[in-house]
Amino acid sequence: MYKILPTKRPGGIVKISNQLKVSTMAAFQLLFPLLVSCVAASAGPPRHLPACQVVQMDVFCSDLSLRSAPVNLPHGVQMLDLSRNQVQNLTQETLAYHTGFHHLNLHSNKIHFIQPGLFKDMTDLRVLDLSRNHLNVFAFSKTNIGPLTAVESLDLSSNGLYTGMSDYFLADSPSLANLSLNSNSITKIAQNTFSGSSSLRKINLHNNVIMEIEDGAFDSLDSLTELDLSKNSITCITNFNLCNLKVLNLSKNSMELFQSTTSTDCYKLLSLDLSENKMPYFPLLPRNNMLEYLDVSRNQLQSIHVTGSPDIKTKVYFYHLKYLDMSYNQLKSLPESFFECMGLLEVLNVSNNCISSFNITSQRLLQTVKIINLSFNSLQSLTFGENTLQSLEKLFLHGNDLTTLDNQIFQRLPSIKHLQLQQNNLIICPLDQNHQEPPGCVSFSSIPNLQFLYLSENNLRSLPANAFANSPLKLLDLSLNPGLDMDKDSLSGLEHSLVHLLLRENNISSLNTDLSSLRSLKHIDLSTNQLTALPTWNKDSSIESLNLQHNNLVTLEYSTMLALEHSLKTLYMGSNPLSCCSNIDFLHMVQHSAVVVPDIETVTCIHEEYSEPVNIEKVTQEMCHRSGGQNYIIAIVVIVVVVMVVLGLLVKCCHLRKQKHIRSFSA
Ligand SMILES: *[C@@H]1O[C@H](CO)[C@@H](O)[C@H](O)[C@H]1NC(C)=O
Ligand SMILES: *[C@@H]1O[C@H](CO)[C@@H](O)[C@H](O)[C@H]1NC(C)=O
Ligand SMILES: *[C@@H]1O[C@H](CO)[C@@H](O)[C@H](O)[C@H]1NC(C)=O
Ligand SMILES: *[C@@H]1O[C@H](CO)[C@@H](O)[C@H](O)[C@H]1NC(C)=O
Ligand SMILES: *[C@@H]1O[C@H](CO)[C@@H](O)[C@H](O)[C@H]1NC(C)=O
Ligand SMILES: *[C@@H]1O[C@H](CO)[C@@H](O)[C@H](O)[C@H]1NC(C)=O
Repeated sequence: MYKILPTKRPGGIVKISNQLKVSTMAAFQLLFPLLVSCVAASAGPPRHLPACQVVQMDVFCSDLSLRSAPVNLPHGVQMLDLSRNQVQNLTQETLAYHTGFHHLNLHSNKIHFIQPGLFKDMTDLRVLDLSRNHLNVFAFSKTNIGPLTAVESLDLSSNGLYTGMSDYFLADSPSLANLSLNSNSITKIAQNTFSGSSSLRKINLHNNVIMEIEDGAFDSLDSLTELDLSKNSITCITNFNLCNLKVLNLSKNSMELFQSTTSTDCYKLLSLDLSENKMPYFPLLPRNNMLEYLDVSRNQLQSIHVTGSPDIKTKVYFYHLKYLDMSYNQLKSLPESFFECMGLLEVLNVSNNCISSFNITSQRLLQTVKIINLSFNSLQSLTFGENTLQSLEKLFLHGNDLTTLDNQIFQRLPSIKHLQLQQNNLIICPLDQNHQEPPGCVSFSSIPNLQFLYLSENNLRSLPANAFANSPLKLLDLSLNPGLDMDKDSLSGLEHSLVHLLLRENNISSLNTDLSSLRSLKHIDLSTNQLTALPTWNKDSSIESLNLQHNNLVTLEYSTMLALEHSLKTLYMGSNPLSCCSNIDFLHMVQHSAVVVPDIETVTCIHEEYSEPVNIEKVTQEMCHRSGGQNYIIAIVVIVVVVMVVLGLLVKCCHLRKQKHIRSFSA
């Protein structure tokens, strides 16, 4: 009846609709006799009828209010997307009697009935998406849907299924590898739940209410490598023995205990997520585990022990661990010995605990660690021995109580690039020349790879000359240190590296540091200070964004603004007592240049003829000429005076002539 088209042809996407003009329609029908309208062509001339799209052997009919597949699907159709439609009954008829599908997408319909045996003859069907339907209604009928002969991936999520209901779909699915049952109402995984689907590799049970997993429920699944049990109500797992499992997610349960069997033969687990549970102790894994990723954040860990009993000092062995997240717990200390069996660790997150001291003295420990996050603890003591932490690139120490540190502590970290020290109480040393720095200060000069340094909220009083010399800083944040006294040479050494400078909320009334020599500086935040004048910049500057909000600027030096104009892209300047007329040239420049002023709604200036500040967009040249009325008065006065003088001279002249005349007369 129909001919199969060659699959390779230019313009693979063809709309099947009868919107096409008659001539092209004829041509198309010749070329593509199969690509007919989704609706019967006889249904009149409905211009706005929804249309399926055909890309080679794939048919896309999503979101078209359909109750079934178009009757005239191309023969040989492999993929049918009927998602977001009104399908209720899934039968041979609704699928237009086609059986050659490879991929059927039926998510977000209203399916509550599936014809038993429907998929039996679909020997090519690999992917079946039935998510977001009403399959709980079908499950009430206690009918099996029959064999899923070739299906490898089945999505049954969001179908209101509860315990036992999945059996009707899984009973005979020998090829099934990926199964999603997430967002249903399953409370128990029974021993036989997966007995008809023994090829399963990946099961997603996220967002159910699972409280119980019967012994052996997963035992028959030799290929199972990924299991997502997150967001359920599981309280404890003892004798964990899924040898072949690689990824296990138990996040967001009520877990109080996780213990493996102590057998040491076969654990392949690589990733274990236990975050957001109620674990008071560290999980217990066999000694020769292969775990690389462990997340125990947001639990109730008070110590790093695996049991509460101090007698059983079960040691933690994680020879393969790369990522360890223990943030948001109640750890008070983290002894160095804890890291002894973690020779490959790269990321350590212990932020948001109550750790008061962190010391690494042995070179053997944490040799590969790249990131340490110790933010929001109560650190008072921090020491790194010689040649420790040689790979450390990022160190987060913000929100601690650090006051005194060994002044060369950061020089000892040869790879350190990124240092977050905001919300501490540090004092910065001057360049270490005569070893006369103030006691307790910490030095930031000569740290060979340091690029990002955050020192906001440290109650910094002064910033000595050359504080960052020989450290190739790209970003320096000194914000929220009110009263900070910056030496005029404090930023020297950063001329060619510094790109971002943040000096927000420092109560600075005048900057005596020369910023024009910072040739790479592109982004500067000077907001919320007391500045009355702009720092000077010349044409060599490369400032792209400048924040001047909340200062005391009345007049912006026009020559500086002119020098910035070629590079400036973004300018913030709201909340300043700008004068309209003394900035008229500048305002004209802003109105007509490409510079973006994101806060322009709040940028106002003061004009003596207006009681309220005027938005700078409304300022015109004329407003300022008129207000120059005084000049006219002066000009008039001058003219009057000149005229009077001239008149006076004329009068005098006439008078002289008269006198001459009289004289001559008398002569
Ligand atoms: C669905 O199919 C069943 C069995 O063929 C039939 O009894 C039922 O009426 C159909 N329901 C709808 C809404 O078409
Ligand atoms: C099964 O899931 C894995 C991992 O998400 C994916 O790579 C694979 O393509 C899926 N298989 C099928 C048949 O959908
Ligand atoms: C575990 O599941 C949670 C919740 O679904 C998710 O946010 C988290 O990313 C998952 N963990 C991993 C390691 O994928
Ligand atoms: C812990 O820190 C690491 C690295 O800084 C980060 O990737 C991770 O998201 C953090 N954990 C939490 C729970 O925020
Ligand atoms: C440090 O860890 C905390 C969570 O504990 C996280 O919110 C923060 O983003 C991490 N910091 C970085 C820079 O990764
Ligand atoms: C800010 O500076 C002014 C003087 O310029 C001073 O009176 C005021 O106390 C300072 N405020 C703070 C918070 O340092």
